[in-house]
Amino acid sequence: MANGLLQGKKGIIFGALDSKSIAWKVAERCVEEGAKIVLTNAPVAMRLGEINELAAKLQCQIIPADATNLADLENLISQSMEILGGKLDFVLHSIGMSVNVRKKKDYTDLNYDWMQTTFDVSAISFHKVMQVAMKHDAMNEWGSILALSYIAAQRTFPDYSEMAESKALLESFARSFGYHWAKKSKVRVNTISQSPTITTAGSGVKGFTDFFGYAEKMSPLGNAGADACADYCVAMFSDLTRMVTMQNLFHDGGFSSMGMAPELIESEE
Ligand SMILES: NC(=O)c1ccc[n+]([C@@H]2O[C@H](COP(=O)([O-])OP(=O)(O)OC[C@H]3O[C@@H](n4cnc5c(N)ncnc54)[C@H](O)[C@@H]3O)[C@@H](O)[C@H]2O)c1
Repeated sequence: MANGLLQGKKGIIFGALDSKSIAWKVAERCVEEGAKIVLTNAPVAMRLGEINELAAKLQCQIIPADATNLADLENLISQSMEILGGKLDFVLHSIGMSVNVRKKKDYTDLNYDWMQTTFDVSAISFHKVMQVAMKHDAMNEWGSILALSYIAAQRTFPDYSEMAESKALLESFARSFGYHWAKKSKVRVNTISQSPTITTAGSGVKGFTDFFGYAEKMSPLGNAGADACADYCVAMFSDLTRMVTMQNLFHDGGFSSMGMAPELIESEE
């Protein structure tokens, strides 16, 4: 249901790879709510993913950018402002990748060069996006910047490996940069800590399917899906959440507040 919540707003959406991607759903919902957007993803995703289909459907442009590369980001920000006809109102960072998880390295035997790449792609890229946007004075007042996180930043989920530390770093960047953006031009920065969601990145985590079922039972409302996450992002990009900043917002059907779920004990019997 469209309510025109983002009418007249302009934004950049990182991370739509295929129709399962959370960013894909967010892009669709933003346009439905009246926003004008630019899509971006790593150059390799242009070949492997289906982003062109999304751009055709939403009648928007794609600007390839490796989110770890400052020159790519400079180009992305300046071109986006040209295409969209002015400063931005929102940015979604929906990027995550762990080299050690991909290569099935055990958490107690991590390769530290790979770990650097993981942190760069999954967390430092968020700082880079914000730093470049700030230098270009690219955000309108009361703009909203979001990144997607996971509760492994606060609690131990053994198979999530070094992505846990990536998410802790990501959430910290939101708080620290959120201060500077708020002071400079009232721009908000938050992370949304999302339920396990069946996507390419999600399914790359070992034992994901079993864990997805576990979280579904642990969460009183069930797992929050990608469509619901898109709705939440729209709310966070809208003017209805203007005083929310520097927060990590759980979007998880209640999972993060649970201690024990009788449903899980019953299913063991
Ligand atoms: N799926 C889940 O269970 C889950 C749960 C909580 C949070 N998240 C987070 O949501 C975000 C989106 O993931 P998703 O589940 O939609 O999976 P996805 O695989 O569809 O999206 C990940 C995206 O990151 C992009 N990417 C990787 N390296 C990049 C780079 N160098 N530059 C630019 N883009 C790059 C990929 O091309 C892809 O589009 C990630 O931050 C992920 O950690 C996912």
